[in-house]
Amino acid sequence: MAEIFEIKPDIFWIGVKDPELRTFDDLFPTEHGTTYNSYLIKGRDKIAVVDTVKGKRGEEYLEKVKQLVDPADIDYFVVNHTEPDHSGSLAFMLKHCPKAKVVSTQAAHTFLGNLIHNPFPSQIVKNGEVIDLGGKRLRFLVVPFLHWPDTMFALLEEDEVIFTCDAFGSHYCGSSIFNDELPDFSADMQFYFDTIMRPFKDKALTAIDKMKNEKIAVICPSHGPVLRSDPWKTVGLYESWCRPEAGDKKIILFYISPHGNTQKMAASVVKGAAAAGVQVDCRHINELTAAAIRDLMEVGDALIFGIPTINRDVPKPMWDVLAYLSTVHLKTNIAAVFGSYGWSGEACRLAEERLKGLNFKLPVPFVRAPFTPRAEALEQCEALGRAIAEEVLKK
Ligand code: FEO
Repeated sequence: MAEIFEIKPDIFWIGVKDPELRTFDDLFPTEHGTTYNSYLIKGRDKIAVVDTVKGKRGEEYLEKVKQLVDPADIDYFVVNHTEPDHSGSLAFMLKHCPKAKVVSTQAAHTFLGNLIHNPFPSQIVKNGEVIDLGGKRLRFLVVPFLHWPDTMFALLEEDEVIFTCDAFGSHYCGSSIFNDELPDFSADMQFYFDTIMRPFKDKALTAIDKMKNEKIAVICPSHGPVLRSDPWKTVGLYESWCRPEAGDKKIILFYISPHGNTQKMAASVVKGAAAAGVQVDCRHINELTAAAIRDLMEVGDALIFGIPTINRDVPKPMWDVLAYLSTVHLKTNIAAVFGSYGWSGEACRLAEERLKGLNFKLPVPFVRAPFTPRAEALEQCEALGRAIAEEVLKK
């Protein structure tokens, strides 16, 4: 018999485990594998399934469903989020569940159309709408951008069980599915937050505000352990990771400088900003871990990048820094670029294009200088620092 866990009477975990997985979505390391959680709810009158599993695990998943119900009796598939690790087996399941409707937000419905390519019975729900399963009412809390535009939570009111899809999850696969029957997986949970939810901190806080008005005894995420012991502790952790720090305005300057020339320019930028009244935290990126770079990005009221040109390009370590920008929750969209070059000088322009692509505002054009910066180039750097500081102070 395949593994099934009863969470509360007539509420079952019917997910699949992937303990050997070592890289999730070709992106993130998963030291302890993961699980694709799906839940089956038997109401007095109706049967609902919340989220499905990865497509390639469909056959095994169907057999689990059959251990509990006749698939032809399923009334609803609730799709809290469309990413294929949760919706990949939906099309397969619908073939075996002829009366099932797919319940989702409008955004998820659109995404599913692009994934499935065939019409499917559907019901689009809005925030606060309820589906009555008979003695078990499923109410939907729409929480966009956790972490896609399509996301919602589903709350079983009577049982105080909430299904939160990726939020509050962990890439962690253990012998049990319950948090109180497993070793400490807090590091896996924090890493998961860091890699998946971190760019959406403000959206997570909005979702938590919605949850605070609800009675919740169990959180059922779509990856990793079900949080039936002290679920609010995890909510509190999310809050602490998401709340912005208060403090004085600050510019963060990241630079790299193989021959010390870009570093000289950085010193002038710092001087200009300080003269305008804003301190600059000026950091050589080789002295920072990736985690420290991402933390600094999030506290900057403006970000400045000192980038020399090497082989007609931005040096690889600085491209990595620019890549981190889309993995964090920034409080600023103000940026500037400067750097030394030898003969061609493409790096500043390439970095500006990357920043513009991420919707950064670049109030001053980049400053670049050949080889050792002359006095006028250093003056331009000072002016750049001053201008960025003035932008920051306007906010
Ligand atoms: Fe677990 Fe966003 O999918």
